[in-house]
Amino acid sequence: MQDIAWHSSLFLMATTIAVFSVVLYNSGDVAEAMPGAQERLRRLLFAVALAVCLPLTFLSLVDLPYRRPAEWGAAVKTVDAVGRQWNWTLSDSTFHVGDRVEFRVTSEDVNHGFALYDPTMRVVGQTQAMPGYVNVLRHQFKTAGKYSVLCLEYCGVAHHSMAAEIEVLPR
Ligand code: CUA
Repeated sequence: MQDIAWHSSLFLMATTIAVFSVVLYNSGDVAEAMPGAQERLRRLLFAVALAVCLPLTFLSLVDLPYRRPAEWGAAVKTVDAVGRQWNWTLSDSTFHVGDRVEFRVTSEDVNHGFALYDPTMRVVGQTQAMPGYVNVLRHQFKTAGKYSVLCLEYCGVAHHSMAAEIEVLPR
C-alpha cells in the first residue's frame, strides 16, 4: 500500500511540475511591464529566498529525531505489547534503571495509541498499535518508579480504562 501511495505521489508531483512548466513557458514576459528597480528588487528577494531555503531544506531533512540503531547499543530487552479493546498485554513489565527496552507494539482489533508515561505522568514515548503491523518503540529507563502505558487513540467506550503498569527498580 505504501508503494502505491509513494508512486501515486511521484506521478502527481511530476504532473504538477509539468503543468506549472507549461504555464510558465506560455506566459508573457512580466518583467517588461514592471519598472526596472522593482524588477531588480524582486529578483534579489527571490535569490535570497532560494539561498536560504534550499540549504535549510536539505539540512533539516537529514536531522530526523530518530535514534539510529548504531547509537542504541547492544543491551536491549524485547517486550511484546499487544493492545485490544480494552487492555494491554505486555510480555514483561518489570525492568531496572538503565535497561534499554524495545517494545514491539501491535493490536488485535482496532488502532490504539501506545503511550509510555514516566512516574510524573509525562509522556516519554509513544507509537501506534495497529492490527497487522508491529511498530517498534525504544526507551531507556532512566529513573525508578511506576510507569504507565495508556491508550492515546479513541478506540471505543472503555478507551479511558485501557492502561497497564510498568515497574522500574533501582539498580
Ligand atoms: Cu485503545 Cu483507546
